[in-house]
Amino acid sequence: MDRIRIRGGRALKGEIPISGAKNATLPLMIASLLTEDTLVLDNVPQLADVTLLQRILGNHGVDVMLSGKRPGESEHAGQTVQLSAKNIVDTTAPYHLVSKMRASFWVIGPLLARVGQARVSLPGGCAIGTRPVDFHLAALKMLGAAIEIEGGFVIASAREGLRGARIPFPKVSVGATHTAMLAASLARGESVIENAAREPEIVDVAACLEKMGAKISGAGTGTIRIEGVERLHGARHAVLPDRIETGTYAMAAAMAGGDVELLGARPELLEAPLELLARAGVEVTRTNAGIRIRRDGAGLLPVEIATAPFPGFPTDLQAQLMALMTRARGTSRITETIFENRFMHVQELARLGARIHLDGETATVEGVERLKGAPVMATDLRASVSLVIAGLAAEGETVVHRVYHLDRGFERLEQKLARCGAAIERVTG
Ligand code: UD1
Repeated sequence: MDRIRIRGGRALKGEIPISGAKNATLPLMIASLLTEDTLVLDNVPQLADVTLLQRILGNHGVDVMLSGKRPGESEHAGQTVQLSAKNIVDTTAPYHLVSKMRASFWVIGPLLARVGQARVSLPGGCAIGTRPVDFHLAALKMLGAAIEIEGGFVIASAREGLRGARIPFPKVSVGATHTAMLAASLARGESVIENAAREPEIVDVAACLEKMGAKISGAGTGTIRIEGVERLHGARHAVLPDRIETGTYAMAAAMAGGDVELLGARPELLEAPLELLARAGVEVTRTNAGIRIRRDGAGLLPVEIATAPFPGFPTDLQAQLMALMTRARGTSRITETIFENRFMHVQELARLGARIHLDGETATVEGVERLKGAPVMATDLRASVSLVIAGLAAEGETVVHRVYHLDRGFERLEQKLARCGAAIERVTG
């Protein structure tokens, strides 16, 4: 199994190109199920999750074609993926695929809307909490679907097609908002999603659906209105830049010190994290090409923050921020409000010398003078990258095991950091 080896203590200097957003790419690929025409997606990142979703969609009958690079294209340009769901040959998404990636459960909405039935495995357990799918199922029921659970599968059907409905969510859910929006696009009549997620990835998917002929307004606000259409057609859409990758490298640069420009990053996608970094004493500036992050030798100031749905501080940057705050001059408090049990990185950071005390959903991080390298274990996607960030500032060698978690969501992480002077390498086997 691959590992990542880091020798800490080097400042970062240079440029890091930001890839297309994983969390937009996955629902965008799934949207291809809604039309028999071809959906072309540009700026698709090369990630294990994308490859896995190709397999899952292929199983339903989607032809997936990856275009090679065009002459003169930068090595960091994202891929172009063409998806063509001319015929849906199978409406079952099996356990062995869905259990590997929760977002693949989201095929349920488009399958149901397009062909009136879907049999999708329940995703099962997950390292960062129970993560149920009850909101997804409630939304589909409101759109007129019959839902049964049998043998670990959700069996959904709507023989007469889906019909528009009012869908009030009790709590903000990114995935359930995607499910409702994708399904309602092909339902008869108007749907109104209330307490919708406002994440930029929702806005990106809505924009793509509109190019495909959907009638959607209000994406990016708490109320999304969708006038269902009879059919959707093909379109071409470029995936927006990854705000979580952007925030991760911003924190890496803040941790190691130095001067890094994040190319293609869009500051408006992560105002809360950038503002927090500025408060902690990191220099954050907008440039024509993206965002510049600078920190000279000065110590970091501690912060107090709670994660929240967009536009709040994202849960997907909580672990990275915690790594950064292990070296702040003072005590930080970080509260996780979205997922229970999303503190798996705490014990691993402690192995590097971090002082973190957990009390329910709040972590109190007492900044220390120095971290010391050690072997550590990645437990989930965002936790694993927090260990890399800590390793950049730890004295001596840090080896992060189980990096397949990283490969799910970070494209060429070690290359991007090494280009800026980090002593980081992948050890295979
Ligand atoms: C998405 C993101 C993930 C991010 C999360 C929160 C993708 C592929 N993944 O995950 O990176 O961390 O949003 O920003 O985009 N919930 C229920 N019932 C449901 C659905 C959700 O109780 O049916 C709860 C969850 O357990 C959690 C909260 O709602 O406590 C928010 O989860 P949700 O926004 O749905 O997360 P995902 O869409 O799975």
